[in-house]
Amino acid sequence: MAGLEVRGLQAQYGDAPVLHGIDLTLKPGRILALLGANGAGKTTTLRAIFQAVSCQGEVHWQGQSLMHQSTEAIAALGLAHVPQGRGTLGSLTVEENLILGAWPRRAPQREVQADVDLWLQRFPQLALRHTQRAGDLSGGEQQMLALARAMMMRPQLLVLDEPALGLAPKVVAEVYAWLRTLNESQGLTILLVEQSAALALELAHDAVVLHMGRVACAGEAKAVQRDAALRRAYLGA
Ligand SMILES: Nc1ncnc2c1ncn2[C@@H]1O[C@H](COP(=O)(O)OP(=O)(O)OP(=O)(O)O)[C@@H](O)[C@H]1O
Ligand SMILES: [Mg+2]
Repeated sequence: MAGLEVRGLQAQYGDAPVLHGIDLTLKPGRILALLGANGAGKTTTLRAIFQAVSCQGEVHWQGQSLMHQSTEAIAALGLAHVPQGRGTLGSLTVEENLILGAWPRRAPQREVQADVDLWLQRFPQLALRHTQRAGDLSGGEQQMLALARAMMMRPQLLVLDEPALGLAPKVVAEVYAWLRTLNESQGLTILLVEQSAALALELAHDAVVLHMGRVACAGEAKAVQRDAALRRAYLGA
């Protein structure tokens, strides 16, 4: 087995079941869009992959089971999670957030600083504010920081929950361009949750559509994009 393999994944909050047996496959080097309406279970699926919610079933990354593993162990396997709402630490500076992002790698300080410099160079807006508190950044800057912070651990799999949420179209285009670059130049595998299906389907190779905690359909992103009835039924477009 290779890449991310999820089989029969169930999850619940207290006694309330939310996921009823999700299957999905993400091959290395590809981008998978996980789509669906509000409350379909997208965020919960990501939480279950990262073992942050009570769940049953199978989750494998590169053949290794993630079930019952700690957050630290999952990060050490090369999985980075940018949660919905970005997950940067507002009271720490931009630079401190980046340094913390590298923590799972346990790399020497010199190497970490070189990566901090690299990401600040890539995002000049962050460089200008590197000593500023992350909480004081604009929404777009915070999303850039969340992406850079996740990349600081040099992940093999990058998982993002609605990176476009609340951002101006120009900033969204910038975030998406970075995701494409990281995928094409480094072969980074990406699992992308989005509500705006049109955008995600343009970037992704494959797509899975969730509906009420189940997979409504799965296939190549282009096929989902072409299927107007499916888009109307589940994606409100
Ligand atoms: N912490 C929680 N406690 C109880 N129920 C929750 C919790 N988080 C989510 N749920 C419920 O689980 C279901 C799936 O929610 P989830 O957040 O996974 O959906 P989503 O597809 O990410 O939606 P959105 O697009 O709005 O972010 C919803 O019915 C939601 O109300
Ligand atoms: Mg969500």
